[in-house]
Amino acid sequence: MNVMEQPFFKEFCKMCQMGFDQGWYERNGGNLSYRLKDEEADAIRNDLDDPKDWKEIGISVPALGKEYFLVTGSGKYFGNVKDDPENNVCVIELNVEGTKYRIVWGLESGGVPTSELPSHLMNHEVKAKIDPEYRLIYHAHTTNIIALTFVLPLEDKVFTRELWEMATECPVVFPDGVGVVEWMVPGGRKIAAKTSKLMEKYDLAIWAHHGTFAAGKDFDLTFGLMHTVEKAAEILVKVLSMTNSKRQTIEPDQFRKLATDFNVTLPEEFLYEK
Ligand code: 13P
Ligand code: ZN
Repeated sequence: MNVMEQPFFKEFCKMCQMGFDQGWYERNGGNLSYRLKDEEADAIRNDLDDPKDWKEIGISVPALGKEYFLVTGSGKYFGNVKDDPENNVCVIELNVEGTKYRIVWGLESGGVPTSELPSHLMNHEVKAKIDPEYRLIYHAHTTNIIALTFVLPLEDKVFTRELWEMATECPVVFPDGVGVVEWMVPGGRKIAAKTSKLMEKYDLAIWAHHGTFAAGKDFDLTFGLMHTVEKAAEILVKVLSMTNSKRQTIEPDQFRKLATDFNVTLPEEFLYEK
């Protein structure tokens, strides 16, 4: 079947548009990758182009050897994906060792996968080892999360707790919390290693003064995760704009009650006394 007729492909394009509509994707900001299921890779095999040359990834992800990914192109605009996917996204295949990739579909007028490919693939590898159902890594330039990285200490426990307090559903949607990466040069092995280390513990990693990475099992869940954390950040920005001392909030014991009723585990490290 034609690549563009595949349900996963349509959902990928829809997710790019939804993120763009949220204002998270100025210019070429942000990127998205989806790890194809074996049957999805089989279904598109006859529609692939002649493969381009193998290129070094700059990192190695042996657990993902020979897998296929749908990824946004570097320098491409999310706002253009829906109307012109062939020129803005590509399917890549990894070599057996997980050290090289080659483009097997898309980016027809030229280009390469996102410059954040090392972070995407290292995150995919960590998540696939934890649970093979993880399929998506989503990077967005989330305005309010970025704003908070200028005023909150860059600590996992502070970001997690402050964001949890902003909406009752937050601890249910991201019970493991969020990790924070201090400012680093993007696009390389070092930031990829740091981010993927956090992905061993969390589904969300914040890059200071840059944006957010989310990992998820399907398109709705991954978009919903990013949407929820960014919405919490928006509320926190509003609260901090009014006051830096809340009159009332959700207290540790209330989080514990919520955890029992909603059947989630909330790590005690985030329920500290302030
Ligand atoms: P790309 O255009 O290479 O995907 O880069 C955008 C970005 O958000 C870098 O962090
Ligand atoms: Zn970015």
